[in-house]
Amino acid sequence: MSPPSVITCRAAVAWGPGEPLVMEQVEVDPPLPMEIRLRVVCTSLCRSDVTQWESKAQPSLYPRIFGHEASGIVESIGEGVTEFEVGDHVLTIFIGECQSCKHCVSGKSNMCQVLGLERKGLMHSDQKTRFSIKGRPVYHYCAVSSFSEYTVVHSGCAVKISPTAPMDRICLLSCGAAAGFGAVWKVADISKGSTVVIFGLGTVGLSVAQAAKVRGAAHIIGVDINNDKHEKGKAFGVTKFINPDECDEPIQQVIKSMTDGGADYSFECIGDTGAVSTALQSCSDGWGLTVTLGVPKVKPEISAHYALLLSGKTLKGSLFGGWKPKSDLPSLVDKYLRKEINVDDLVSHDMPLDRINEAFNLMREGKCLRCVIHMPDNSCT
Ligand code: APR
Ligand code: ZN
Repeated sequence: MSPPSVITCRAAVAWGPGEPLVMEQVEVDPPLPMEIRLRVVCTSLCRSDVTQWESKAQPSLYPRIFGHEASGIVESIGEGVTEFEVGDHVLTIFIGECQSCKHCVSGKSNMCQVLGLERKGLMHSDQKTRFSIKGRPVYHYCAVSSFSEYTVVHSGCAVKISPTAPMDRICLLSCGAAAGFGAVWKVADISKGSTVVIFGLGTVGLSVAQAAKVRGAAHIIGVDINNDKHEKGKAFGVTKFINPDECDEPIQQVIKSMTDGGADYSFECIGDTGAVSTALQSCSDGWGLTVTLGVPKVKPEISAHYALLLSGKTLKGSLFGGWKPKSDLPSLVDKYLRKEINVDDLVSHDMPLDRINEAFNLMREGKCLRCVIHMPDNSCT
């Protein structure tokens, strides 16, 4: 077989923070050793793409291709890759798993030291980009960059999945939905009969609700400032909805009164550090556990009175629901295929890549759950 050559394809490129994406012809390099090039099939827009694109913190990392929640098909493989073959169906993973570093071999962590969250817009291996426009480098996002018809990822940043799984739905398991399930089943490992409170009922929070219901939680309280989330919450297992803007007293007081002193578990799924403190205040003395899933937009510091911890509460962070992506994702896909988890109803919109700015607007306006972006079929020129 002849070695792979550069592919020219279409991608939605951000030229600056907060600037609408522009459809561009981009050149996608062949995969280097231990990398694979993928034909992206579907990619859903995650809140973190929007948060990062809105942020003015890294203006030098533009032009840039966002997107990190995607399904695709292996188009070509780099030297040394034995795990994948051309034609394999995969999910991208935004925190890779090298399967040999201290964290990967520990049973305790998904914080791979080699392929962990990439923040410089580059590939892990050579600190360069695989995209360019007329010779000008185009930066990556989380070493995935799925808002492109083709992308290159490290082979440790993708996982092979069942070819029978619908690519336009299981892409949600590449980030948001899986994070919610994992926070409940793996990070908090909640017990049957528990009382759970969820701050923020987006895709992440609704996945927490669903997972809590599966575990047999007795009460699932959903907190959101958007009343449209009331019905949606119910469909995913929320037993009581509260809009904090419509309460006469602070939300933590409302929850404490409702739960005889505080919930067993609280989950922060907004991406607001103020809500982390509130979530901690809303859980029970002695054993209350707060798990954070959100990625804050502003004010990254958390503040909480130490008395909250003296009283025996625990604050636990998480990324991607604690899943080891390569090891754990295929079984989540299988759960989907067995209809044990509902991902389909987390998709509110389907649209072609051309309309990606619409998806950004819908998310900013709080009018969607997940928008799934479908790539055109014949993209290679
Ligand atoms: N109080 C309660 N709910 C709020 C508040 C608030 N102050 N602010 C926002 N919300 C609600 C929104 O109305 C929305 O329903 O939080 C929800 C957030 O959902 P999405 O924006 O759809 O985000 P999602 O994709 O679920 O991600 C949540 O997890 O992965 C991270 O970066 C992601 O920080 C984000 C978080
Ligand atoms: Zn590792």
